[in-house]
Formats: sequence, C-alpha cells, structure tokens
Amino acid sequence: MPTLKIDDKEITVEPGASVLQAALANGIEIPHYCWHPALSVAGSCRLCLVEIEGSPKLQLSCATEARDGMIVRTQTESVKDARKSMLEFFLINHPLDCPICDKAGECLLQDYTWKYGTSHSRMVEDKRERPTKDLGGNILLYRNRCVLCSRCVRFYQEVVGDPYLFIEHRGYHSDISIFPGKGLTHKMTGNIVEICPVGCLIDKDFLFHARVWNLQRSKSVCPGCSSGCTIYLEHKDRRVFRIRNRENPAIGQQWICDDGRYLYHRYENLNRPESPWTRQAGELKPQTWEQAMIYAVEALQKNPGRLAAIGSAFASCEENYLMRKIFRQILGCEYLSFYAPAIEEADTVYRSGFTIRGDKSPNRKGAGLLLGDQTDFYQAIESGRITRLFLINGDPLLHLTLEQKRILAKLQELWVLDIQSPEWDSVAAHFWPIACFTETQGTFVNAVGQVQRFQRALQPPQGVRPGWEVLLDLLARLAPGAGMLSAADVLDALAMEEPAWRSISYFKLGDQGLPIESR
Ligand code: SF4
Ligand code: SF4
Ligand code: FES
Repeated sequence: MPTLKIDDKEITVEPGASVLQAALANGIEIPHYCWHPALSVAGSCRLCLVEIEGSPKLQLSCATEARDGMIVRTQTESVKDARKSMLEFFLINHPLDCPICDKAGECLLQDYTWKYGTSHSRMVEDKRERPTKDLGGNILLYRNRCVLCSRCVRFYQEVVGDPYLFIEHRGYHSDISIFPGKGLTHKMTGNIVEICPVGCLIDKDFLFHARVWNLQRSKSVCPGCSSGCTIYLEHKDRRVFRIRNRENPAIGQQWICDDGRYLYHRYENLNRPESPWTRQAGELKPQTWEQAMIYAVEALQKNPGRLAAIGSAFASCEENYLMRKIFRQILGCEYLSFYAPAIEEADTVYRSGFTIRGDKSPNRKGAGLLLGDQTDFYQAIESGRITRLFLINGDPLLHLTLEQKRILAKLQELWVLDIQSPEWDSVAAHFWPIACFTETQGTFVNAVGQVQRFQRALQPPQGVRPGWEVLLDLLARLAPGAGMLSAADVLDALAMEEPAWRSISYFKLGDQGLPIESR
C-alpha cells in the first residue's frame, strides 16, 4: 500500500486512492466542489489544487493518484493563492444572497470563502443576472449561485442511469439545463439538492421554512419501504422540517428516494385521539390509560383460546416481540400473526444499485421472524376461530375496505393500538393511541436482514404513548417481575430468547446496524 506525506503527516492509503481521498480520510481538509465520493472524477472546479514535490505546477488532488513516496503540501502560498483566485472567480456573478438562501449554514461556497477566500471583491462590473428556473417537481434552480461542479449532472448519469440534466452552452454562458420534455418528477430527485455544494438547487418543500442551524438532527430509519434507508430527521418545535440521507456503508446506502424524503408529511395532520377510548352503548368514550389497562388486564385473561394477537410490519421488533410475549407466553393465545400491506409493485433498481422496494413496509422481515407467517386473520374471524382480537398497526396509509370492516364488526371485542383512529371508529371496541415512528424508538429489520435502530425525534402529543411502553405496561400488569423498563431492555430480552438476534443490543447496533443471524 502506498505511503505518502501530506503536510508532513505520513499516510498509508489503499492502492488507487487519490491524494484528495488520502487527505480527507486523515483529517486534512482540501476544499473541493466537483469531487463527490459516489461520483466519477470531473476535475473541473480547480479548487482542490495542491503542491506535489517534483511537479512544476499545482496538481488536482482529486485526479492525482496517491503514490508511494509522494510529498504533498496543501498550505503553501501558491496553493492558498490559487484557492483565493478560484473563489474570487466563483463569486464573480454570485449574488451574495446568503441571508435569504436556504443553503446558508451548510454551504461550501460560504464556508470556503470564509476560510480560504478574501473578505472583499475587486469586481466593479455589474453582475450577470439569470432568473431562477423551476425544474419541475420540488426543484428550483437558482442559476446565479451555480459553481458548475456538474455533480447534479453526473448524479443522473451515473447513479440513476437516465440523464435528466446537462450543461448547456460553453464558457461564460454555461448553464445547467434539463433535457426537453423531462421534468424533475423523478423519485431520486431530492438527492441533487443534498449533493449540490451551494444553494443553487433548492427544494421547494423546505424553501424558507427554517434556518438549518436552528434544526436538531435525530438518527432514524425510513419506514417508506423494506430497504430501510438510514436517515436524519431534522426538526424543531415538535415538528419535522426535512429528512436527509444518513449514509450507511454497512448496507452500501448513499441515497434516499423522494418517497422517503417527503414521507414525514404522512404523519402530519393525522386525527389522533389524546387518550384511549372505549365504545359504550355505541358511543366512543374517552378513558384514562389506567382505566384502559385495568379493564384490558381482566378482559384479556378470559377465554384466551378465541383471542388472537396481530402484530405489524410497521411496528418495531420490540413491539412485535412484546405482542408475542404477552399473547403467546403469558395468555397462551394460539393465533398470532401480523399485518403487512400487499406488495403491489416490483422493486425499482437504479444504475448504482440503489433499490426502492415494492414492499412498502419497514419491518416485514422482523415481524415474520417474531410472529410467524402472515396469515389471513379476516378468514379466521369469518370462520369463528377468532372472536376477540388485539391488534397493533402503525401504517398511516392503512385503509380498511368495507368488506374488512364488515368482518371486523363480527368480533366480540377488538383492541386497536394505532397512530390515528378514523379507520377504527366504526369497528374497534377499544382504541389506544400510540406514537408514530418520529416519536418513538426501536429497531426494524430491512429486506436484506439488517437490524437498524431508529431514535425518537419528537415528543408524542399529550396522552399518546409509544407502543412498546404501552405493551410493557400491559405485560407488567399481567406478569409482574418481567424486569424490563425501557426499549433497550426489551431488545436485550428479545436477544436472549431469539437466536437470530443473538449478540444484538442498542449499543452494538451503533449507527449502521448489524445483520440478523440467518437461520
Ligand atoms: S446546480 Fe449545484 S450541483 Fe449542479 S452544477 Fe450547479 S453547483 Fe453543481
Ligand atoms: S428506498 Fe425505501 S427506505 Fe429508502 S428512502 Fe425510499 S422509501 Fe425510504
Ligand atoms: S475537486 Fe478537484 S477539481 Fe474539483
């Protein structure tokens, strides 16, 4: 493996790595725009210039392979001078509109100008003004801010495999443009906003909604499909403002799709009761959690042979495990299964291998491993095998058909734990409001068997509790001494019982998760 010196620091790198990669991997910053780890090398922005001993001119660190014995300097006067000149060049026509730019606070033009540029401009000529273009979908192109790094163009060519954008004209007139007849309604489009190093590509969904430095970040997992992409929920004032990609090398994931990026809107404006309710003389009467629990503990212990428990591919592993523990181990219930939506479309695989799954549930694999095969519980209700049902959902898009409602109405008693109640108002006997994925924590198992942890970002609304906490409360009342107090304890108990989860804990899962042990 080649060993080189960068700024007197001895560095050994993988063969084939560039000088820029070697520096970045070892904490040495070299400013760059056009280079991106997931894209080909363009060598166009000229910002990553460094001095290499023996070379008469400055070299592009992104396009120069790190070689054994190389001596590289990133802080000499000529390097600093070249950076200053390039930054001055990028700002010739830039409107310097940081105060109203969404990218401010995370913009590489702002950061590099501050660190490596000059504090004043020598330009006295008028700036060129280009109107903002609407590229379709959620994307606006603030053309005056572009540094022509071509990341967005290469993203479509190399990651998606379908060119949507190109650089129109040449030289001073160069401009990002979209191929005629194409609007940016593509499912991968939001990624170009993330990789644009400046405030040129802007997402209408976030435009002028918040300043990025006011947002808090929580690590989560997208529940939009069984790919289980790792994400950041960015939030403030008990509201999610945007979802960003959180790269996970363990599953080779570098992007997220737009279904996942904007999915937080599904959880806004839901009809969420602020306490459990029960049906009395045909009316839905609010209850305290204590009243709901006292009644359930007594009622659930009656006639367990006809009682069934249905977990969910939208519930965490912890919740599905607690469902199994309560209903199979404590109450001796025979019928256990889980809800998952029908798979109605094929997987979409892009050129880079990034996959949007046809399975639109985040935890089908985890629910299946814990609760057995998915069975048709509607049929079991019709046949009289099930007369009472305890069900957890969590899918904000669940829609019960009239036929399903007709069958559920046959039950003597139906408990539902869900994030919203309208679908259940006409059929449930008891409704317990639980937190949605942004308000709780837990783990999902994705389609390739990676167990990944999602963390709580928001407080649930008043009166709403995380599903695992509600189930743990129920378990503690039915079988005191279970010894679990937190979601982490539940995962530990699961790992003790289930060989596939052996050696998995919140601590060991870290940010990237761990593969489930195949049986
Ligand atoms: S729009 Fe952004 S990503 Fe595309 S070339 Fe311009 S600066 Fe680069
Ligand atoms: S591919 Fe699936 S998991 Fe990934 S961001 Fe899209 S919807 Fe979410
Ligand atoms: S990062 Fe090297 S030329 Fe742009």
